[in-house]
Amino acid sequence: MRTETPPLIHLADYRPSDHLIERVDLDVRLDPHRTRITAVLSLRPNPAGEAGAPLRLDGDDLRLVALDLDGAPLAPGSFTAGPQGLEIAEPPQRPFTLTIVTEVDPTANTKLMGLYRSGGVYCTQCEADGFRRITYFLDRPDVLSVYTTRIEADAAEAPVLLGNGDPVEGGPVPGTDRHYAVWHDPHPKPAYLFALVGGRLDPVETTFRTLEGRDVRVAVHVEPGKAERAAYALDAVIRSMRWDEEAFGRAYDLAVFNVVAVSDFNMGAMENKGLNIFNDKYVLASPETATDADYAAIEAIIAHEYFHNWSGNRVTCRDWFQLCLKEGLTVFRDQEFSSDMRSRAVHRIAEVRALRARQFPEDAGPLRHPVRPTAYAEINNFYTATVYEKGAEIVRMLKTLLGPEAFRAGMDRYYADNDGRAATVEDFLKAFEAESGRDLSAFAQWYARPGTPQLTASGRHDATARTYDLTLAQSLDDGEPLVIPVALGLVGAGGALDGATCPEVRDGVYVLAAREATLRFSEVPEPPVPSLLRGFSAPVRLQADLSEGDHLRLLAHDTDPFNRWQAAQSVAHALMRGGSASAAFAEALGRLLDREGARDPAFAALALAIPSEGEVANEMRAEVDPDAIHAARSALRRELGLALRPRLDALWDALAEAPGVPYSPDAAAAGRRGVGAVG
Ligand code: SER
Ligand code: ZN
Repeated sequence: MRTETPPLIHLADYRPSDHLIERVDLDVRLDPHRTRITAVLSLRPNPAGEAGAPLRLDGDDLRLVALDLDGAPLAPGSFTAGPQGLEIAEPPQRPFTLTIVTEVDPTANTKLMGLYRSGGVYCTQCEADGFRRITYFLDRPDVLSVYTTRIEADAAEAPVLLGNGDPVEGGPVPGTDRHYAVWHDPHPKPAYLFALVGGRLDPVETTFRTLEGRDVRVAVHVEPGKAERAAYALDAVIRSMRWDEEAFGRAYDLAVFNVVAVSDFNMGAMENKGLNIFNDKYVLASPETATDADYAAIEAIIAHEYFHNWSGNRVTCRDWFQLCLKEGLTVFRDQEFSSDMRSRAVHRIAEVRALRARQFPEDAGPLRHPVRPTAYAEINNFYTATVYEKGAEIVRMLKTLLGPEAFRAGMDRYYADNDGRAATVEDFLKAFEAESGRDLSAFAQWYARPGTPQLTASGRHDATARTYDLTLAQSLDDGEPLVIPVALGLVGAGGALDGATCPEVRDGVYVLAAREATLRFSEVPEPPVPSLLRGFSAPVRLQADLSEGDHLRLLAHDTDPFNRWQAAQSVAHALMRGGSASAAFAEALGRLLDREGARDPAFAALALAIPSEGEVANEMRAEVDPDAIHAARSALRRELGLALRPRLDALWDALAEAPGVPYSPDAAAAGRRGVGAVG
């Protein structure tokens, strides 16, 4: 028997579609086993495609019921149709209309791609290529169409009928138990953003007025009886809408925005235009069962899907190789949102921990791939930490390189130049080049090169000349150097060495573009400790050969909270491997508690949380001994706990809620609980 290996698809082989679909009119008659879809497609030859080319529509597991061209049935020999596609050898070389009737079984659809049922609710998932399981189509992201969808269902089985865009009309189907709703989405979109929902659902809703003064009806729909548990998700939608207006000038663009929670869902959630569909674990929360981390995840994923409305929907991807264009950018946007909602330092630390735990190993293993892959057999395998998380780090580096003003101007330009279009990574970078006047061609290598670069640093102080030479070197395989923004500063025994200067460091950032470079700082009166990669300014592995004493100095005096946390982690790692300075460590943590405990308790909690056993194991070069790690970690915890006890007790009392204060899931209360958990 032959096993089928799907053919590799290459970025280099991209060609525009030979045909375009301007309008899609769908009539979907929902039925548990025999849902009938009538699709009227307004097609035309693509001037950018090949003239006279056959029309090849994608299909997956489809059954064709009827086919008309401009209202007349096609001659039997003029087309072929099977489960996996429909082809018309000689389509008209002018605009024409194709009417396609297909039938699908949503109950039998256990792939959860296309149209399926979840707990009795009809719903869809079309990214990356699920729409071809509903009707035959040019199922590729660079074919953008305006959709009108009529949905019909049994009124008792599916009293709520939702589609993309805005509701147009609806009502009973006379003489039957059925009803219908028509939705129209004026924004051209690729098929992967199509969605519909039909079922028994309860909404929680409110109204949001956009900065453009339009009222939007915002609703979160959940299974009957669970609406109370959706209040936090609804609140997160409203905060996301306001934040995207304030941070990026992006307003919502329809009269309604719906979120639906379903219990069977492959991905976390999906950003379908005007109709986001969620795995219900990212919507439902109640104070009795949800943790602070659950609330934070709901807030982040709600924001992520909402932000896609601009970064993904209004500007979409030309092809699936450009997935990072929407995902990396949208993860960056949701990270910034969460940082503004919560403690920025705490959030950055969480992001970096996740990156190191998931993306670094991926980048070092057999599944490593560039942020923009160049070939795939199955696109669904590329929804990875590299595309999402490292993709977000690239956008963050871009902001660090250009500064906040030029970055924002570049984003505005990207949206303006590509609105309603399917874009590429090149289009994205071009917008920033245009606004900043910078050449980003070397920076673009971050999209193409897999692997985590190594950054090594070593310094030499000259007491007589009062200079400090810092040598930075990078390596990644044997390839060309990357452009690495290194945020840095020098820290003396008593705090920041503000007088030290280096002409190549601007706004606290040195851009390492060579394999190796030596920076000379002048006016350095004492041997400094370099604080490197502040805020984790680039996704690299840093090797700086700092001593325990150096780390303790950074923990005590660095102005960068990320590096203070990093220093605490480094000392804890060293102590668990048999270091000696645990009294000094406890003292430094104590001072941090005094300063930050009440001001940013969530940050203090993280700084006090010594690395997990897993993180310790990851750091070990030699064979891992779980018992030894457990024993060393427990001993260090006990020692620190005893030393810090009086301060922790005092902080506990200071942060305790007054009796009778109701529970709140908000960030401030969560931070107070976080430090309580350490104590
Ligand atoms: N496009 C979806 C998302 O990332 C897929 O999970 O939001
Ligand atoms: Zn996404």
